[in-house]
Amino acid sequence: MKSLKYFFKKAKKEKWAIGQFNFSTLEQLKAIVSAAERLKSPVILGTSQGEVNFFGIEEATLLRDLYRKKFPYIYLNLDHGKDIDLIKKAIDLGYDCVHFDGSILNLQENLKITNKIVKYAHKKGCLVEGEIKSIHGGSEIHKELPKEVLFEDIEKAKEFVKKTDIDSLAINIGNLHGVYKKPIRLNIKHLKKIKEEISVFLVLHGGSGTSKKDIKEAIKNGVVKINVNTELRIAWKKSLTGSLKKKIIKPYKILPPVIKAISDLVQEKIGIFESINKN
Ligand code: 13P
Repeated sequence: MKSLKYFFKKAKKEKWAIGQFNFSTLEQLKAIVSAAERLKSPVILGTSQGEVNFFGIEEATLLRDLYRKKFPYIYLNLDHGKDIDLIKKAIDLGYDCVHFDGSILNLQENLKITNKIVKYAHKKGCLVEGEIKSIHGGSEIHKELPKEVLFEDIEKAKEFVKKTDIDSLAINIGNLHGVYKKPIRLNIKHLKKIKEEISVFLVLHGGSGTSKKDIKEAIKNGVVKINVNTELRIAWKKSLTGSLKKKIIKPYKILPPVIKAISDLVQEKIGIFESINKN
C-alpha cells in the first residue's frame, strides 16, 4: 500500500497535486470516490470538525477502508483540527493526515501544541499539516472580498518549520476559503519565495473559485495538495434542489443525479491538478 507521503513526494517531483475534497454526506463521498476510481487518481477525503461530527468519525474511517478495496489510494485528513481530543481520535482511528490549525495561537503556543501532535501522529504513521497564519473566509458563498489579502510571513514560517517536524504547511498566497463574485488570484511570486525557503510539502487551501491558470502555476511552483470544498457544496445543493423538484420520492432515484454532478466536478478538478493515472 503506497502511503500519502509517497504521493506527496511523487507529486512534488513530477509537478502535479493531490486534491483534498471535503464531504459530510454519503452522496459526496460516493461521488469523490467514484471520480478517483474512474481516473485512477489518488485523493484525500477531507473532513472538517463540523463535517466529521455530523458524518461520524468511525463511519468515515470504515468507509475509507471499504472503498480502498475498490481503489487503494484514498486517504483521510482531518481538516482545520482545533479540538485536541478529536485530533487524537482521528489519529487513533487511522486517519492518514491531520491538519492542526493553530493559527489563532501565538507562535510559541502553536509550536508547542503542533510538536505534541506531531509526536503522537508520527508514532502511528499519520502525517501532520501545520498552519501559522489563518486563511480568510469559510467554505461558503461570500458577498464581499476581505479587506486585506494575507501573505505568509516567510521568516515566521521558516522558524515554525525548523522547530517542528510537520510534514506539510497550509500557506497564504492570496488564497481564500469560499467563492466570491470574481475568481480569486494567487500571488505566484510569493509562492516562489516560500518554496525557496521552506522544504515541507506546500498545501493550498481555498481551492474553490480560484483562477484555473493560477492553480496550474501554483502546482508548477511546488503546491502538492489543494483543498476544495465550497464548489462541491454548491454542486450538492443545486443538484439536490433540482432533483427534489421532480415528483419522484424514491431516494435511489433522487440521489444519483446529485452524485453525478459532484463526481463530474471532482473529475474536472482532478484534470486541472493533473493527478490522473498516478497509481
Ligand atoms: P474552499 O471551500 O474554498 O474550496 O476551501 C476548502 C478548504 O480549503 C478546506 O480546508
